[in-house]
Amino acid sequence: MATTQDPALEMQELTQKINHLNYQYYQNSVSEVSDFEFDQMLKRLEELENLYPEYKQPHSPTQRVGGTITKSFDTVYHRWPMLSLSNTYSEEELREFDKRVRKAVGDDVEYVCEQKFDGVAISLTYENGKLAQGSTRGDGTRGDNITANVRTIRDIPLQAHGKSYPDLFEVRGEVFMPLQVFEQLNAEREESGEQLLANPRNATSGTLKQQDSSVVASRKLGCFSYGFLADNTPFDTHSESLQAIQKWGFKVSDTWRKCGNIEDVLAYINEWEKRRHELPIATDGVVVKVNSYALQEELGFTAKSPRWAIAYKYAAENAATKLLGIQYQVGRTGAVTPVALLEPVSLAGTVVKRASVHNANEIQRLDLRLGDTIFVEKGGEIIPKITGVDFEQRPADSQPILYPTHCPACGTELVRTEGEAQFYCPNEKGCEPQILAKLEHFIARKAMNVDELGPKTLEQLYRAGYVRNAADLYDITFEQLVPLERMGEKSANNILASLEKSKATPYDRVLFALGIRFVGSTVAKKLAEELPDLEALRGATYEELIAINEIGDRIAQSVIAYFQDQDHIQLLERLRAAGLKFKSEKTTPEIQSDKLEGQTFVISGVFESVSREELQQLIISHGGKVVSSISKKLSYLVAGDKMGPSKLEKAEKLGIKILSEEEFLGKIK
Ligand code: IVH
Repeated sequence: MATTQDPALEMQELTQKINHLNYQYYQNSVSEVSDFEFDQMLKRLEELENLYPEYKQPHSPTQRVGGTITKSFDTVYHRWPMLSLSNTYSEEELREFDKRVRKAVGDDVEYVCEQKFDGVAISLTYENGKLAQGSTRGDGTRGDNITANVRTIRDIPLQAHGKSYPDLFEVRGEVFMPLQVFEQLNAEREESGEQLLANPRNATSGTLKQQDSSVVASRKLGCFSYGFLADNTPFDTHSESLQAIQKWGFKVSDTWRKCGNIEDVLAYINEWEKRRHELPIATDGVVVKVNSYALQEELGFTAKSPRWAIAYKYAAENAATKLLGIQYQVGRTGAVTPVALLEPVSLAGTVVKRASVHNANEIQRLDLRLGDTIFVEKGGEIIPKITGVDFEQRPADSQPILYPTHCPACGTELVRTEGEAQFYCPNEKGCEPQILAKLEHFIARKAMNVDELGPKTLEQLYRAGYVRNAADLYDITFEQLVPLERMGEKSANNILASLEKSKATPYDRVLFALGIRFVGSTVAKKLAEELPDLEALRGATYEELIAINEIGDRIAQSVIAYFQDQDHIQLLERLRAAGLKFKSEKTTPEIQSDKLEGQTFVISGVFESVSREELQQLIISHGGKVVSSISKKLSYLVAGDKMGPSKLEKAEKLGIKILSEEEFLGKIK
């Protein structure tokens, strides 16, 4: 996109165009250009900003990708205090709230009901329409200035739309991590042997405190705005302000509703108690607000909370059951994780038999003993957890649970790194569950995808002494396979073919398959992008590694330690000799046909025979375009397994043609 234009002008035009496209995308779910074109524009703007930093604007859309490092966050005072809400769990108390309100201001009261989003509260200050500051709640009077991180959140406009906003205003909202992102983040943490995050709220608050805003950008946080503040507010009601801020480009959840009386409020609560799991974010209740600003003012505040609003909270779903035992699982990294075995109990629609107990400290903190009656709680999609013990029911002769000092699998003494709650079995090269878990990781779908080889066969190969590490897999012979249990000649051949096919796996997935601690699939991709072959990675210094976006101290140390181990070097040499790819290949797909010319596709869900990236490449190589959101103009939705119900619903509503994986592959055959 070389040009002879005045750079300041080009930057201004690009900024306007990108802002417009962002608005269309996030507010109207319309993609006017492909992701590729969008990225090109953003890249060009970034390039110009680097060449001409004097023209760079603090509210530039390039700020969305982050990159600012904040060593420590400043404390800032809130112009308007960030109060909390009084809570209730009962219909009766809610009716009393309504009576109090009507007694104070008369019967002519209208309410607005909203979801109580379970994220992290944020205050956003706008000066002349530009995002000037984003801060956390803190103690309500002062919070942390996290503006650089807030700028990466796409639901928060960097520049308000239109012209009708006051010179100075604040918007309040809730930042959240969509459940899908949370699950993916935890899956990646599991893959790379890190401790799992307890829930999306903790994940959000941890993310907002990151010093590197590009990490925040990569977490794809969202924000629902629910409040507006200004000195001379141009609105008479809260509902008007919600409509206005939405027009200005803020994301307002369309779940709010005006309610003429308390019966309507209760109907809203009942409806959403059932529907709450449809939302992309966890909610823990409903917030009821008096709609009229004049009446809000009349009602005023107590020391802590407004008298014009109340939060109705859903009771957390929990149950009591017996703790039957603790199982100690040894993972791929040697981490020993206790899992509580429970007497089966029905909870939030499922039967729960196991619960997570994160580590040894947790057993002590809760003072768990076998045979105890314990309470389990399940919040939304999260794994049930033990919240406490019913001490009155404790058997008189119960003994504290002694955490094992030695590995339950191989007997090696467990170690604990200072500052970590987890115990590890250090016998990395001789402990069966660790070796098997490493091999399983290596052949997994997202890694080498040796789909014909299952865990049972792996175990047999291990026990027969044929396989001790990943390189051994490529030395397996037909003669070794055939005599194994439930194996025929056909399966043996399939396994060998599958191993052969895996040699074509791209370098970034090979890197992920190696199972280097803290190198999950996203990190592996990043490393493969920046250091395009294994030699470059092996030779990279600590400084070079941490200079890469998203690569921090822990990952860098872990990569370096991996290459210092001679056994790893030998393993890599054998894998290279076997024909695995240790080098990135150019990924621009070759054009194969124009069968999909002029057609646009949205890809959603997971697929059986191809990865999402492969599908994307196929579309491009046949002349089609991949876009990320569903609009009227879309030609097809390619639907895999586990796709989001809201996408499907939207596509059906707009009459978009939906293709299965097979149907799509049929089109380009
Ligand atoms: S209004 C003075 N609306 O709940 C009232 N808060 O307990 C200010 N929250 O810190 C809050 N969803 O983080 C409001 N629709 C909603 C909300 C909401 C979640 C959170 C918010 C606040 C806490 C108050």
